[in-house]
Amino acid sequence: MSCGRSKKLAPPPFILLPLQSLRKTSVKATNSQEPVVLTDTNLVYPALKWDLEYLQENIGGGDFSVYRASTHKFLYYDEKKMTNFKNFKPKSSREEMKFSEFVEQLQEIQQKGSGERLYLQQTLNDTVGRKIVVDFLGFNWNWINRQQAKRGWGQLTSNLLLIGMEGNVTPAHYDEQQNFFAQIKGYKRCILFPPDQFECLYPYPVHHPCDRQSQVDFDNPDYEKFPNFQNVVGYETVVGPGDVLYIPMYWWHHIESLLNGGTTITVNFWYKGAPTPKRIEYPLKAHQKVAIMRNIEKMLGEALGNPQEVGPLLNMMIKGRYD
Ligand code: SIN
Ligand code: FE
Repeated sequence: MSCGRSKKLAPPPFILLPLQSLRKTSVKATNSQEPVVLTDTNLVYPALKWDLEYLQENIGGGDFSVYRASTHKFLYYDEKKMTNFKNFKPKSSREEMKFSEFVEQLQEIQQKGSGERLYLQQTLNDTVGRKIVVDFLGFNWNWINRQQAKRGWGQLTSNLLLIGMEGNVTPAHYDEQQNFFAQIKGYKRCILFPPDQFECLYPYPVHHPCDRQSQVDFDNPDYEKFPNFQNVVGYETVVGPGDVLYIPMYWWHHIESLLNGGTTITVNFWYKGAPTPKRIEYPLKAHQKVAIMRNIEKMLGEALGNPQEVGPLLNMMIKGRYD
């Protein structure tokens, strides 16, 4: 067992079950809608040699999005939705910088120990150098293309490179795409919750910049405001170099770079989900209900001409009638 996996982890305030991990990509894992850790895909095999030095040498002179925070939590926010909620003050900020600047700033922060944190999150594009292109072409496209076909997914929409400091946390959220999360360097603890736990995780309103993110602060849950969070049950796993975690669309995930594991490197592969079947089966699945709720919120925002009026209207509709 490698050291990263044996580190003691802080107990979370809720029940955790182990997430299944499979050495062979069995038929079960290939067709299942459930999350799973796959340990022998070789998906990003040529990238397992990546470290900051190699990347600085070869990743090219493009711009990289780097988030800066004074806490360990990097709560995602959609900058385009910031005008909807004028009082929203993000706790992290995005900067564009060259890769070498990122490495310099990282070293500076580590020397100072200021408590400041950085998290690079950048889509891989055609500005990368030749060696990175060669590594990228050496990914196991055979395997992942077969997965895409068997699962009936749509196109690969993007690859995101994430480089984080130990202790960085991406708070619980869900995405609207299928994700193969390929761990390259360091260890990440991943806690997943199925889509039917929507009522336990209290996502922000759709028009809020933090749409799809849980409002619950896992470090200090407000049980008065979010009582059902006491009933949440998650699946936990720790992924290390070479592991691929399948995060199904609409599944919640909280991801933290382990302490004392050094810098973490991950590449995400996002795919459009399968098209909706011609014949819909009832009862609907939890993720389909989430999609319906999202559409209702969006429709109301448009019909009312003001996202601020969505909440009051929904309340008027429900209070004393449906509750
Ligand atoms: C992370 O690795 O920190 C976040 C990745 C994701 O949300 O898919
Ligand atoms: Fe995500």
